[in-house]
Amino acid sequence: MKILEERILKDGQVLGKDVLKVDNFLNHQVDPMLMQQIGQEFHRLFKDQPITKVLTVESSGIAPAIFTGLAFNVPVIFARKHKSLTLKDELYTSTVYSYTKKVSNHISISKKFLKADDVCLVIDDFLANGQAVEGLMDIVGQAGAKLAGVGIVIEKTFQKGRHLMDEKGIRVESLARIKAFEDGKVIFLDDQEATTHAVH
Ligand code: G4P
Repeated sequence: MKILEERILKDGQVLGKDVLKVDNFLNHQVDPMLMQQIGQEFHRLFKDQPITKVLTVESSGIAPAIFTGLAFNVPVIFARKHKSLTLKDELYTSTVYSYTKKVSNHISISKKFLKADDVCLVIDDFLANGQAVEGLMDIVGQAGAKLAGVGIVIEKTFQKGRHLMDEKGIRVESLARIKAFEDGKVIFLDDQEATTHAVH
């Protein structure tokens, strides 16, 4: 998605060798106009699927997920990382290990919001090691619901998340695919490489 790649080049900041800071428009301050375009793009990519729920994990997945839900006209559920005082119903839970932050989080979704007849689209801000998406997939499985695919705003192709999804035969659509950070610069996977990637 060209407008997203341009925004990453303009406002993204490379930290160390594998982290991209995008708190200017995605992870802290949020650009709702860009999020709206992102939601519309996920709708364009997945409109062949009978999506009934959009799923994400708090907190940074919520903004793109909301606009995706708006485009599909379906509810958005964000898995919670902390125990809620009011979320007393029965919960689906899974454990998500963050390689970046080196902590394990329990994520949970109330059973009343996810049913066996739901067709789910998982949305997240980053695909790095794929742990957050795996946790949501686990919960979709516990509910007996169907996973239609995964929509990612920024994928880092050099980390293992994509490989993990491919192995499981999950359809993943990423709007920006970064293959490397070189001398503080972001290098995107070009279209030809992306096709070759998909073929292998
Ligand atoms: P995963 O997201 O694929 O599971 O990989 P990983 O375990 O490495 O990611 C842990 C957390 O770090 C996730 O956020 C993920 O979105 C974030 N993250 C991974 N790579 C980057 C990066 O290059 N830049 C930024 N800004 N974040 C990255 P989280 O723990 O779920 O926290 P939240 O921000 O959604 O609250």
